[in-house]
Amino acid sequence: MNQPLEPDQKSNRADLLRRILDAITTETELEKLADRVAELVVDSVGADVCFVHLVEADQVHLGLIGATPPYSEQRGKIRLAVGDGIAGWVAQAKVPAIVPDKWNDPRYEYIPALGGENFQYLISVPMLRPGGRIVGVLNVHWTTTPEDPDSLVRDLQYVANLFAANVEMAAIVEKLERREQQLETFAANTIAAQELERKRISNDIHDGLGQLLHSSLYHLDAAMYPENIAESRIAIERAKELVLSAIKEVKNTMTRLRPGILDDLGLIAGLKSLCASIGKPEVVSELPEELGEGLSSAIEITVYRIVQEALANAQKHSGADWASLKVWVENDPTVLHAVVTDDGNGMEVENGFGGFGISGMKERAELIGAQLEIYSRQNFGTRIHLRVPVT
Ligand SMILES: Nc1ncnc2c1ncn2[C@@H]1O[C@H](COP(=O)(O)OP(=O)(O)OP(=O)(O)O)[C@@H](O)[C@H]1O
Ligand SMILES: [Mg+2]
Repeated sequence: MNQPLEPDQKSNRADLLRRILDAITTETELEKLADRVAELVVDSVGADVCFVHLVEADQVHLGLIGATPPYSEQRGKIRLAVGDGIAGWVAQAKVPAIVPDKWNDPRYEYIPALGGENFQYLISVPMLRPGGRIVGVLNVHWTTTPEDPDSLVRDLQYVANLFAANVEMAAIVEKLERREQQLETFAANTIAAQELERKRISNDIHDGLGQLLHSSLYHLDAAMYPENIAESRIAIERAKELVLSAIKEVKNTMTRLRPGILDDLGLIAGLKSLCASIGKPEVVSELPEELGEGLSSAIEITVYRIVQEALANAQKHSGADWASLKVWVENDPTVLHAVVTDDGNGMEVENGFGGFGISGMKERAELIGAQLEIYSRQNFGTRIHLRVPVT
């Protein structure tokens, strides 16, 4: 049974409870909330530092979203796979971990920016919602061994679960806001891109189709008033060649507007033909025979365009010897995966991307509720993984 609290302990507890309630009722911004959670956790268990990791939407990564100073500036820079490190282990097992000696704990992963060498004792607890859904993980460190770790775990688990709903709500709100902003940017970019495309198509029609039809008219005119019948035949032959070129030109223009192959032969054939069109690097493809029912044309065109841009980038920028496209469908829930990999120069993902290609891929994915992950390291190639939920 708990010991009765001394008067000043009582007022500390009351103060802490007031601050926790204040954070729960007033803080809606994810970053600020996460920093408040870290601060309150440290105060409630007498720890030295606390890190708040959030389970990301893909359910396979954890991102640092808040911490006590001076580590709060690491927010957004630290990312772990579920299963990696102590926090990753806790996210997977959904139970707390007490780590008295991290250097001899095989689960521990040293991240220099988080200063693990400055702390001795670590307790990690999952932030759980009713039903066992995990929202995040709190990693709490002490410079010395604290007393009664079991009761600390109980207190921490209580505080972690108390904050889980708010953190989850704030994360959802932030995601919705980001999505709304992306939709606005996408709409603006789409209009700008459409204008550009229209100009390009109008120039193409003028310079290509227009010239071909003009020239064929000229030859047909010549054929009407020939010096002799042979000359007329040559002029008509020439006009016919030009009309055939014009038909080809019309098809090319239409393909740029919407890849006709999707309508005629479907997504798999479209992807095969994309791979074949690259040349260098040679693209090895691993595609299923068919993709089953339920792929909307929005999904088809998004997958096609994203793979097209990823392969075009591999061709233009990677200097790779080989590239591959792998597509498969996972069931329960149904998710279409498309992965484009190259073994080229790679790039620094942290530095962001210069062109419109990658941002366009991300926007397209976002619009159909898909996720696009880019894994790349300089000199180690690039892998682009698209996950499309199929409902
Ligand atoms: N597979 C890759 N390998 C190496 N670098 C890449 C790869 N893909 C993209 N990059 C780098 O990322 C940058 C941004 O790519 P992005 O597709 O956004 O623009 P872009 O290809 O330069 O131009 P755009 O796609 O607008 O024609 C590229 O300029 C290139 O430096
Ligand atoms: Mg590009």
